[in-house]
Amino acid sequence: MQPYAATAELPAHKASLDALYSLIRPDLARVDALILERVRSDVPLIADVARHIIASGGKRIRPALTLICAQLCGYRGDQHIALASAIEFIHTATLLHDDVVDESKLRRGIATANDLFGNKASVLVGDFLLSQAFQLMVADGSPKVLRILSDTSAIIAKGEVMQLMTEGAPETTTERYLEVIAAKTAALFAAACELGAVAGGNPAYEAPLYDFGMHIGTAFQLIDDVLDYNADQETLGKTIGDDFREGKITLPVILAYAAGNAEEKAFWQRSLGDLQQQPGDLAAAIRLMDKHQALAQSVALAGEYCERARRAIDGFPPSPAKTAMLDMVDFCAGRVY
Ligand code: IPE
Ligand code: IPE
Ligand code: MG
Ligand code: MG
Repeated sequence: MQPYAATAELPAHKASLDALYSLIRPDLARVDALILERVRSDVPLIADVARHIIASGGKRIRPALTLICAQLCGYRGDQHIALASAIEFIHTATLLHDDVVDESKLRRGIATANDLFGNKASVLVGDFLLSQAFQLMVADGSPKVLRILSDTSAIIAKGEVMQLMTEGAPETTTERYLEVIAAKTAALFAAACELGAVAGGNPAYEAPLYDFGMHIGTAFQLIDDVLDYNADQETLGKTIGDDFREGKITLPVILAYAAGNAEEKAFWQRSLGDLQQQPGDLAAAIRLMDKHQALAQSVALAGEYCERARRAIDGFPPSPAKTAMLDMVDFCAGRVY
């Protein structure tokens, strides 16, 4: 039983990633093997921390995007394996760092690396994983790949810092929030897709696939921010209510604050602005979100971004890869983990 179950429901979870995974299964197995090979280290702490997060699973959505986009472009070579691995390394490094910054205790259904090994080990091994991404991209050698991955790493870091600056400020605008999530999350989805097109060798496919990634990545983070208030913790594998406890300003807060009366605004100011939280505050926050349909509106906005993602690949002829990408959009729109 979830103590904080909100009444605003996510859409029924219709789509799964099964068709996508079955199309890319051999490629994804090679990506996993390459990643595990590269985190072998003669420094035991590096191998322990890296294996802890990598072997704990994760959906592998970003490398899957690289692989499926390469397939959409008719690519038949090997370049996409290292590129997809570099993308997952960047993702995993940001998770190690993010869980330190967010003081999170649960990730992928198990204790976070910072909880088990400490903040110092998490930050340093996060840097190690990031350096693996850079070694892979240098080995690839394509100037376009170097540009995409180095720009993206800078954008993600900037996004996390921008988010830090909005902490405790419920008056943050929706536009600012969208800027933050475009940088911290969607940019990596976009890079993952664009790299698939780069491997495919058809420059005309780069822009539409980049757009697809930006839109699906934005929807992904919007839903993530809703799930932080109304998911089933066990299914999600992360602690519910972390965003609230940290004073993180996500769209449900922004919308509930903007629509709130003076008393409600004072509540948000106290609980998130000043971080003076009392027992029952999270439940109260969810009630206010329900009152103003803030969670439902956030889900609706995610739906709009999903529609934009679908439109971005309108021009591609029908193929199993395209169908799998459209399934992935449906998955992101209704995901519960
Ligand atoms: C978590 O991403 C970080 C966000 C951008 C919300 P995922 O939900 O893709 O994490 P894993 O890799 O599946 O654990
Ligand atoms: C995930 O952000 C990390 C990045 C996108 C860099 P969040 O803090 O919003 O996601 P979770 O909830 O910890 O996965
Ligand atoms: Mg976090
Ligand atoms: Mg965070």
